Amino acid sequence: MTEVTLVLASVIAFVSAKPQFARDLRLHEHGVAADDTPLRLRLSLVQSDIKGLQDKLLDVSTPSSSNYGKHLSEAEVGAFVTPKPETVAAVNAWLSENGLNGTSLSPFNDWIGIQTTVGQANELFATQFSEFTLEATGETAIRTLQYSIPSGLKGHLELVHPTITFPGPRRVGLPLASLPLSEERRTTTSRSDLSAPASWLYGIPKTLATQSSNQLAVSGFIGQYANAADLQSFLKKYRTDLSSSTTFTLQTLDGGSNPQGTGQAGVEADLDVQYTIGVASGVPTVFISVGNNFQDGNLEGFLDIINFLLKESKPPSVLTTSYGEDESNISPALANQLCNAYAQLGARGTSILFASGDGGVSGSQSQSCSTFVPTFPSGCPFMTSVGATQNVDPEIAADLSSGGFSNIFGIPSYQQSAVSSYLQQLGSTNDGLFNASGRAYPDVAAFGHAVEIVYKGKNSAVDGTSCASPIFASVIALLNDRLIAAGKSPLGFLNPWLYSTGASALNDITSGSNPGCGTSGFPARRGGILYVTGLGSPNFPALLSALGLS
Ligand SMILES: *[C@@H]1O[C@H](CO)[C@@H](O)[C@H](O)[C@H]1NC(C)=O
Ligand SMILES: *[C@@H]1O[C@H](CO)[C@@H](O)[C@H](O)[C@H]1NC(C)=O
Repeated sequence: MTEVTLVLASVIAFVSAKPQFARDLRLHEHGVAADDTPLRLRLSLVQSDIKGLQDKLLDVSTPSSSNYGKHLSEAEVGAFVTPKPETVAAVNAWLSENGLNGTSLSPFNDWIGIQTTVGQANELFATQFSEFTLEATGETAIRTLQYSIPSGLKGHLELVHPTITFPGPRRVGLPLASLPLSEERRTTTSRSDLSAPASWLYGIPKTLATQSSNQLAVSGFIGQYANAADLQSFLKKYRTDLSSSTTFTLQTLDGGSNPQGTGQAGVEADLDVQYTIGVASGVPTVFISVGNNFQDGNLEGFLDIINFLLKESKPPSVLTTSYGEDESNISPALANQLCNAYAQLGARGTSILFASGDGGVSGSQSQSCSTFVPTFPSGCPFMTSVGATQNVDPEIAADLSSGGFSNIFGIPSYQQSAVSSYLQQLGSTNDGLFNASGRAYPDVAAFGHAVEIVYKGKNSAVDGTSCASPIFASVIALLNDRLIAAGKSPLGFLNPWLYSTGASALNDITSGSNPGCGTSGFPARRGGILYVTGLGSPNFPALLSALGLS
C-alpha cells in the first residue's frame, strides 16, 4: 500500500484527451465498474529509436538513395524497436512493486500485457474505470475518460490500452453494394468491358507469375470468410485461361478460421480473394483470417496481424486490407503506435495497402458532418492508401472515395511538394473544413464501381474502395514478380517511389470529386494530385518501364 501511495504521489498528467469515439455513436456510462472486475490491459513501452526506424524506412524506400531496396532483417528492425534496458527495468520494477506479471505481446517486447482488476487499475493510473454501453450495438466496454501514469515511467511507458479508445464500427471499405447483377446495373456501367477483372484495362498481363517466394497476403476480419467455391466460379467465368484449381492458402491468428459452408461466404472476403487471385495471375496468395480473440484490445486484430507477420522470417511482399475506420475513433497515441507497426513491416520489405474508405469526405462510410472526417489508417504515412475510380474514357474519381487530410499525422517528406501544389490550386475551397497540415490520402486509386464478383454462387456487382485495394495490390505483386526474377528486391514501402519516379507511370484522374458534409468535397484537377484518387490508377506497361523492366 505504501508503495502505491508513493507512486500516486508523483503522478503526472499523461493523457487529458477527451474520449475517442465515433461522432455519431451514443455512449452510455452506467456507473463505475466494480473493483474486482478483471481487466486485461496492454502497455506500450517506448521503443528505443522509432525515429531512427522511420528514417531508415524512408532511406531504403527512396529510389535515389544508395540503400534503395535494402530491406531490413528482423534483427535490424528489432534494434530500433526493442525498448532500452532502462525502460524494461523501470517498467518491470513498477510491475513487481504492484504484484503484476507482464507478458510480451509483440516480437520485440514493446507491447506488454497485464492481467489486473478495475480496482487496482484505478489506483495504478489514478483514474476511475466505468462501464459504458455503445447504444448502436449494445456492446459494453470498461473504459475511462482519462488516466495518468507514475512520473517514474515518463519516457518509458507510451500508452495504456484499452483506456480512452472506445469500441467503434471498423468497417472502412466494406463494399457498399452487393447486388445481384441486374440489367439496370449493367446499363449504369458505362462500358461492358468494365466487367471483371476490370483491371485488365490497366494493361495488366495475364501471363503467369514465376516467382514462388513472392507472396501476396489478403487480410480478413470480423468473420468475413473467403469462399473457395465462389473463387472457382469466378475464375471459370472470367479467367478461363487459369487453372480453375488456382486458390489461396490460409493462415489464421486470434482463433481465426475460414469455414466453407454455403452461406458462410463474406462479400468482402470473396471480393478480396477474387481480385487478387484473379488479377495477380499465379502469384502465391494467402488469406489471413483474424479471429475474435484479439490480443490488442478493441483494435479488432489490426495490431495483432502486423505483429503476427513481423514474427515471420519472410513476411509477404504485399499485404492488402479493405477494412478501417474513422480516424476520430482512435486515440492519437494508439494511432501512432499502429502506424509505427506498419513502418516496421514496411522496413522488412512488405508493401502495405489499405482501402481509403467509402464515405467521400465524410469518412469511412457516408454520414452527416460539419467538418471533413479523415479515415484510419489512411492518415498513417507508412502505408499506401488506395482510393476508387469509376468509368473508362475517361476514368473518373468515384464519389464514394474517401480522401482528404489527417488530423493526427503531419505531411511526410515524400508528399510535401505534391501536397503544396495541390493546396495552392485548391485556393480557399473547403477552408476550415480540413487540416491542411495533415498527411494527404489516398496515394493511388483503382476501379471501385460496379465490380463484378461471384458471391454465394451468384454473379454480383459491388462498389467501394474495397475493390481498389486488392486490384492495386495485385499490380504491385506482379511487378515484384518481375523484379525478383530480374534479381532485384521487391518494392517494399511504396510511397517514396510512387511520389517520385513512379508518379509518371500512373494514369491521371482528371475529373470527379468526393462529396460529403454538405460540400462537393475535394475537386479534380488536371495533371496531378487529386485528393480523391491520389497520384492516379496503374498503367502496368508504364510501371514496368519506370522500374527498368521492359
Ligand atoms: C506472477 O508469476 C509468478 C511466478 O510465475 C506467480 O507465482 C504469481 O502468482 C504471478 N502473479 C500474478 C499476479 O499473476
Ligand atoms: C492538424 O494536423 C496537425 C499535423 O498532423 C496536427 O498536429 C494538428 O493537431 C491538427 N489540428 C487539428 C485541429 O486536428
